[in-house]
Amino acid sequence: MQTFAVCKIRSRVDEPSKEDTLDTSRLAKKHVLITGAARGMGAAIAENFAEQGAKVCVADVNLEGCQEVVDRIKAKGGEAIAVQMDVTKRADIVAGVQATVDAFGSINVMLNNAGINKPLMFLDITEENWQQIMDVNGLGCLMGMQEAAKQMIKQGPQDEPYKIINVGSIVSRMAFDDVVPYSCSKHAVLAMINGGAKAWHSTTLR
Ligand SMILES: NC(=O)c1ccc[n+]([C@@H]2O[C@H](COP(=O)([O-])OP(=O)(O)OC[C@H]3O[C@@H](n4cnc5c(N)ncnc54)[C@H](O)[C@@H]3O)[C@@H](O)[C@H]2O)c1
Repeated sequence: MQTFAVCKIRSRVDEPSKEDTLDTSRLAKKHVLITGAARGMGAAIAENFAEQGAKVCVADVNLEGCQEVVDRIKAKGGEAIAVQMDVTKRADIVAGVQATVDAFGSINVMLNNAGINKPLMFLDITEENWQQIMDVNGLGCLMGMQEAAKQMIKQGPQDEPYKIINVGSIVSRMAFDDVVPYSCSKHAVLAMINGGAKAWHSTTLR
């Protein structure tokens, strides 16, 4: 006798389920800085967070793109600011954290999302290719964690833990032969997550 697993498939025209309905107050007290948020995943996360009530600092080297994301958030009734930030420059990150605090009163979530990839086969990898990728994905993430953590520690304990979120990749745990510097940088991101967790385990940072 054959047994079939029964699963419910809902059509797109069904009424939205509870999971489909955004809780617009879930992130109401969250003041979030997202790097690399002018497009792609960063922009999508920024808009989704804002829909759930978060106030969002949309940061990227591409200021025009940031402003477009902010305009879309505001058009839906959300709150956001646009900040030009090159994550390879510490001064830009410091200024972005400060802009978030100035606009919303504090920062309680830092999302290090900015990342680049320039695939090259193993023997073609150059020092420049390696450095660019490691600077944005590795150093940018490290400095983002540091500057957000400094501000969060300065703000003192709050009801819910502060959150620092780093965007890794499947290649944080593996590698392909045409994206070795990218894989190394994403391994580094994972190491920074583990290192940060150890550094701040006794604080309200997660
Ligand atoms: N797209 C994927 O399939 C995928 C999969 C796994 C992980 N990721 C990671 O997710 C993150 C976002 O990926 P994506 O596909 O949305 O990328 P994307 O290329 O669409 O967007 C990246 C954004 O980062 C910005 N950026 C680049 N250099 C910067 C710098 N120095 N300072 C500030 N901003 C800078 C770009 O202007 C751009 O807006 C990256 O960290 C990426 O490695 C992506």
